[in-house]
Amino acid sequence: MIFEFQPDKLVYGGEALGHQAGRTVLARGVLPGERAEVEDIRTAKGVVHARALRILEPAPERVAPPCPYFGRCGGCQYQHFGNELQVTAKQEILRETLRRLGRINWTGEISVHTSPPWNYRNRAELKVAATPGGEAALGFFETESNRLCPVDACLILSPRLNELLGQLRHPEWSSRLSGISEIEILADDRDERAMLTFRGILSPRDGERLAREALAQLPGAISVGMDDGRRLTVVGEAALPYRVGGFTYRVSARSFFQVSRFLLPELVEAVTAETSGAVAMDLFAGVGLFTLPLARHFGQVIAVEADPRAARDLAANARAHALENVRAVTETVSDFLRRCAQAEADVVVLDPPREGVGINNLKQLLVLRPQRLAYVSCNPPTLARDLGFLVNQGYTLNSLELFDFFPHTYHIESLAKLSRLVKNSIGMSC
Ligand SMILES: C[S@@+](CC[C@H](N)C(=O)[O-])C[C@H]1O[C@@H](n2cnc3c(N)ncnc32)[C@H](O)[C@@H]1O
Repeated sequence: MIFEFQPDKLVYGGEALGHQAGRTVLARGVLPGERAEVEDIRTAKGVVHARALRILEPAPERVAPPCPYFGRCGGCQYQHFGNELQVTAKQEILRETLRRLGRINWTGEISVHTSPPWNYRNRAELKVAATPGGEAALGFFETESNRLCPVDACLILSPRLNELLGQLRHPEWSSRLSGISEIEILADDRDERAMLTFRGILSPRDGERLAREALAQLPGAISVGMDDGRRLTVVGEAALPYRVGGFTYRVSARSFFQVSRFLLPELVEAVTAETSGAVAMDLFAGVGLFTLPLARHFGQVIAVEADPRAARDLAANARAHALENVRAVTETVSDFLRRCAQAEADVVVLDPPREGVGINNLKQLLVLRPQRLAYVSCNPPTLARDLGFLVNQGYTLNSLELFDFFPHTYHIESLAKLSRLVKNSIGMSC
C-alpha cells in the first residue's frame, strides 16, 4: 500500500517513527519534518515498516546522498542528511532509549567523539555472488535482504580496502572466485597491510592455490586465510599486527577487532584513563584492546574472552608486551562469574556483543561489588536494560560518551561510566 507519511522523530535502527490512520509506522529514507509518499514493506508486531518512494516536502537539512548505492545497499542509512545532524540525532536516540527502556533520565551531557565521516572502516565483509552470466560480482547485501548489491567502491571503506575491492572485482580476479561467498578484509592501523579471509567451498588444493595467489598478487596482503566453515587454512603471516596507542596487537583471522579506525586511540584512552588499583577485570576482552593499557595501571588484570582464537591472541599480546600481570581466561563471562563469585575487582570493563551483558551476568557480577564500571556498548537498547538494572542496584551513572564510529549509519557506540558509593571490604582473589 502507498500512503503519505510525516514522521515525528528518528529512532534506533535507521528508521523514522510516526503515525498514520492510527497505526505506528517506521519508514526508511524520510526525515522528521518531511512529507513523503511511502510504501509499506511488511507489518511486524502491529508496526508498519515502510520505505520512501517520493519526498513531497523535503526538510531543510536534506542533502543529496553522495553514494550512488544509497537506499539500495544495506550498509548506510543516513546519507540523506549531514554528519553533524546525524550525531545530534544519535545523542537524542541514546538519551531517549535510556529513558524508555532503562528508566534512566540522563539530563547530563553526552560528550561526542567524532570521526572523519568517510573512509573510516578498516574491515569489510565483501559478499560474492554469481551473475546471470556466470561471473562473480562483489558488493554488500541490500537492506534487509540476502540479495547482492554489487559495488565498484564504497565511500566508508578505507582506501586500502577500496583498492582491494577494485582488484578483486576485476575479471582477472573475479573469474577465480567461483565457490567463494564472502571475502573478509582487515587493514592495519596505517591502512597498508591487510589480512584477507576467503569463505566458501573449494577443494583444499584450489583453496590453497587461491590463497597463495592472493598473497603474491594483492596489494598489502600479508596473511590470507581459506575458511570452508570447518577449517581455516592460513598462508603468509599467522596474524595482522594492529597498533593502537602504545601497543601493537596481533589479530588472527576470526578474532574480533574493532572495525572503525580513527577513534580507537580515543576510545582506549577514555576507557582506561584515570584508573588504577589492585585488580581490574576486562570482560568480553577480545584480543586485549583494553587489557594491555589496564595492565600498566593495575596490579592484576583478569581478561575474559570466550572465543579461543581471540583469547590466544590476547595471551600472546600480553606476553609480547611483557605484561605478566595479565591473566587471560578462555571462558564465557557467565561461566567465569559463576566460578569466581568471590573475586574482587576495583574496576570492571564490560564490552559485550549486541546482546549486552544481560541481567543474570550482572547479578553475578554484583556479588563482586566492583567499585567502578566502564560499559562499552554497540547497542543502545541492551545498554539501557543493563544500566537500568545497575542503577536500581545502587550504581550511579557518572558519564556518558558517544563515539561516532560509524557515520552515515544508524550504529551507536557509547561508553557509560558508573560507580558505587560504598566499596566492599571483603573479597578473595579468584
Ligand atoms: C564487542 S567485542 C569487544 C572486544 C574487545 N573489548 C575490543 O574492543 O576489541 C565482544 C567480544 O566478546 C566475546 N564474547 C562474546 N560472547 C561472549 C561471552 N559470552 N563470554 C565471553 N566473551 C564473549 C567476543 O568473542 C568478542 O571478542
